[in-house]
Amino acid sequence: MSDRLHTLSGYLYEYQKSIAQPEEFWSRIADSFFWRKRWTKTLKWNFQEPDVRWFEGGKLNITENIFEKQLFTLGETPAIIWEPNDPHEASRTITYRELFEEVGRFANALKAKGVQKGDRVIIYMPMIPEAAIAMLACARIGAVHSVVFAGFSSTSLADRILDCKAKVILTSDGNFRGNKKIGVKAVVDEALEKAPVETVIVYKRTGQEVFITPKRDFWWHEVIEGVSSTNKAEVMDAEDMLFILYTSGSTGKPKGVVHTTAGYMVYTKYSFENVFQYSPGDVYWCTADIGWITGHSYIVYGPLLAGATTVMFEGVPTYPDAGRFWAIVEKHKVNQFYTAPTAIRALQAFGTEPIEGYDLSSLKVLGSVGEPINEEAWHWYHTHIGKGKCPIVDTWWQTETGGIMVSPLAGITPTKPAYATLPLPGIQLCIVDSEGNELTGNGVEGNLCIKFPWPSMIRTTYGDHERCRQTYFSTYKNMYFTGDGVKRDHDGYYRILGRVDDVINVSGHRMGTAEVENAINEHPKVIESAVVGFPHEVKGQGIYAYVICDMSNRTEDNLINEIKDTVSKIIGPIAKPDKIQIVPGLPKTRSGKIMRRILRKVAEGALDSMGDTSTLLDPEVVEKIIEGRK
Ligand code: WT7
Repeated sequence: MSDRLHTLSGYLYEYQKSIAQPEEFWSRIADSFFWRKRWTKTLKWNFQEPDVRWFEGGKLNITENIFEKQLFTLGETPAIIWEPNDPHEASRTITYRELFEEVGRFANALKAKGVQKGDRVIIYMPMIPEAAIAMLACARIGAVHSVVFAGFSSTSLADRILDCKAKVILTSDGNFRGNKKIGVKAVVDEALEKAPVETVIVYKRTGQEVFITPKRDFWWHEVIEGVSSTNKAEVMDAEDMLFILYTSGSTGKPKGVVHTTAGYMVYTKYSFENVFQYSPGDVYWCTADIGWITGHSYIVYGPLLAGATTVMFEGVPTYPDAGRFWAIVEKHKVNQFYTAPTAIRALQAFGTEPIEGYDLSSLKVLGSVGEPINEEAWHWYHTHIGKGKCPIVDTWWQTETGGIMVSPLAGITPTKPAYATLPLPGIQLCIVDSEGNELTGNGVEGNLCIKFPWPSMIRTTYGDHERCRQTYFSTYKNMYFTGDGVKRDHDGYYRILGRVDDVINVSGHRMGTAEVENAINEHPKVIESAVVGFPHEVKGQGIYAYVICDMSNRTEDNLINEIKDTVSKIIGPIAKPDKIQIVPGLPKTRSGKIMRRILRKVAEGALDSMGDTSTLLDPEVVEKIIEGRK
């Protein structure tokens, strides 16, 4: 059964209802799921602690809502269509029945390896169906998955293993990306030196040589050999942990965002159906990686809960050429296509030639996620990909929100370039000024908060509840603070303006400036560093690092390359600074605080609007930084 809205007035009516009577509203939506036991209390909440519980008393398994509930009607329907990196390799179509069997089999294999309800399992895998099977198998037996993007370094992986005390890692021998074959198990081996686990299961994807440590490492195909596909789902409490996903914040190491079972399930399905207006038989494709929340909610859980056919792509947009996305749209007759502005801008740079000759007439809806989409990219997407007939859903949300919060409903909400438009039913947005006063009415700009719980919201940060409270619930009383700036225009439409904290968004990947600084500081010649974001044509934001170094025995170029390598090694290539400027000093206040405002201005080249520099300890340093600007 679908809870899809069909008209603008229907949306407005539902929205009002969802605000006036949230518990009744979400109860009705939740009633269409399969519960082992119905919940007793729809919502209990308190944003001070924070303590938020949805559907308490309810018992269920999310995979029973994907499989058992739908198999009768969808058994032979494709659940996943997988497109490999190499267009000459065959794609794979996995029906709901086949996926159910594979999930059951792997769930049994995990159990046989001693994985129990509540154990943490890290998934460090390429974009292959087995990654989704791994997630669902964990959910099936009540183990908590934590997917780590396979582009992260061994150090990042080790940090996450230690933080969540993982028992098992699921991985692959290697990963095909473009014309590269990348070692994956080798990275795991390195991480395990610092952060050991009991068991590693390795899927053979590239066939490259790997080290197998007896009694710890096992081949995927061997652990499932002869294993039954019949698996009885673990009965979970509504608020049992479903997964942990690490994300960057403005301070310290990445934190493990915790999502729980029932609320996440209800919200991802509901938002998927409504935003994308998915109809049975459609083919939906989200180009994200399962290492990010977009992959969790809108490649795996949302679409599969809605009985959709979801495309999974292993490769990159420019291999073998810049027409690959469009070749895939044509090949699988994709109806809904969901990607990031950075990908659109990267492809835009190749002009329209790579699109020519491909039949994109199957497309009905285009989606955007991860960062603000600039008007130029919006128009290019609309005109050249959507041929002017596909609505664009610019979806604003976060790892912490679990699902899409602000977005047009495709074909229903009138769109406006660069606007995420209106909140989904159940989402109570609030704009506040820096003192926390709510700015009411239209034509206002401020910090974006959410003042009422929604089912898929973050419950805690793993192992450190206080950090969750501090980060999201302490800035403004009784509100969840998103970290984003926002404008509500005269029509009441929302436009996201970007982060107002020390988080930068590089190609839709979230990065903490402190995290990058810590990595830079690991280089033995680095004395101090400061990192800021700057506008970047393709990536949205680039990383600009100001670094004070001991220059003995080094040329500037050498040092810059070494620092880039250090960051790549410690975090991963996605965190590599675009620009590194060696500076004699950093602009600091008398109390020793780095004035990032000034560094941001220099990085973006706004040299005439530097503002007041008189409170600086050493105002001359600014002159020198401007002179050496990259
Ligand atoms: C941050 C969250 C949500 C999945 C991918 C990113 C930015 C996300 C939009 C959008 C403007 C956006 C925000 C947000 N962001 N979507 N449509 N328009 N900004 O998840 O890694 O948790 O990052 O991405 O700044 O806070 P994430």
